[in-house]
Amino acid sequence: MEDERIEHRKIEHIEVVLNYDVDFPDHCTSLYDSIILIHQAYPSIKYEEIDLSVHFLGYKLSAPIIIEAMTGGHPDTYDINEKLAELASELGLAIGVGSQRPMIIYRNNDEVIKTYKVVREIAENVPLIGNIGANTLHDLVLEDIEWLVKTINADALAIHFNPAQEAIQPEGDLRFSEKISEKIAEMLDLLDIPLIIKEVGNGLSMETVSKLRSAGVRIFDVAGACGTNWILVEKYRKRTTPIKQAIAELLARWGIPTPISVIETRAAAPDSIIIASGGVWDGLKAVKSIAIGADMVGLAKPIIKKLLLENYISAKKYLETIIESMRIIMFLTGARKINDLHKIPIILLEPYITYLKTRGINPEQYIKYLRGS
Ligand SMILES: Cc1cc2nc3c(=O)[nH]c(=O)nc-3n(C[C@H](O)[C@H](O)[C@H](O)COP(=O)(O)O)c2cc1C
Repeated sequence: MEDERIEHRKIEHIEVVLNYDVDFPDHCTSLYDSIILIHQAYPSIKYEEIDLSVHFLGYKLSAPIIIEAMTGGHPDTYDINEKLAELASELGLAIGVGSQRPMIIYRNNDEVIKTYKVVREIAENVPLIGNIGANTLHDLVLEDIEWLVKTINADALAIHFNPAQEAIQPEGDLRFSEKISEKIAEMLDLLDIPLIIKEVGNGLSMETVSKLRSAGVRIFDVAGACGTNWILVEKYRKRTTPIKQAIAELLARWGIPTPISVIETRAAAPDSIIIASGGVWDGLKAVKSIAIGADMVGLAKPIIKKLLLENYISAKKYLETIIESMRIIMFLTGARKINDLHKIPIILLEPYITYLKTRGINPEQYIKYLRGS
């Protein structure tokens, strides 16, 4: 029964994501409007020297972008992962696979395993990130985790925390206990690759990040509340109940918006690599997310939508447009390298000032700290 559920859940999620409006309202455009980048009429850098490349997990990426964890498991996901891997490889971007839980359940089933393995087979030149749910760690021993990582030849393993989604999901697993951070600390000691903590669309807070930083984690993917909303995805699934649907509507805006979550995460884990994801769907949001504290950005839903509702070329053009707009915005702000985005002048308007002060972060000190002074 469990097996049947998990096999079909992935496909149903993709169907809902393609066919329903499951986004946070306005994709936080007004919040991003309150981050001001200063236009430089005299950028004094050569356009052709602008360099978006970054080093991540031992690879040089051509831009600081991750194709976020989405899929794998069901045989129909083989082609999707193959195409996503082609995109990552062709454009020089990092890529994640979707939850590897089906690999554990269907351990001896080659059809399932190959839907994940295909990513590394195609994308040899870029970082590959494995994926497993934090709540699932209760059921796994270290050998299982090592096997998940080795089988797909991953460079890092993302542990996703998705309590909001699980709470609305009819078959949800709500085991987010203290034991998880102990297990994560143990995994960090024994595994030879880094762990990434990620949300799936409701954002990471200072409190959550502090706990996991204390366990030794140094890479965080905020997946904030500005893009795909998993509470709404669960609302549209066939197995939902009227009560869960009503609660999903009540909580349709629940979570920490992506730019706020970037700041919370940087404040709690200043020495970490931070990925801004959750509705970071254009070059301006990408550059602003980096300017306020992220190192990289990640995107999920728009890529799979372009790929499945249009084609490979549209998905590629979409990502190329983001990269080119980031380059132009860097030119207009006088930033030659991605790291320079942490040095350019920025202004945070309300609601940031009140929000940050209330959370005990001094906005001026935060900006000065980012700018290295
Ligand atoms: C179709 C789909 C499937 C996803 N599956 C997973 C998953 O298995 N594991 C995970 O950690 N996140 C998963 N996510 C969440 C994304 O990795 C990402 O954190 C989230 O969608 C926010 O990014 P976005 O707003 O650009 O879509 C999925 C997202 C989509 C759109």
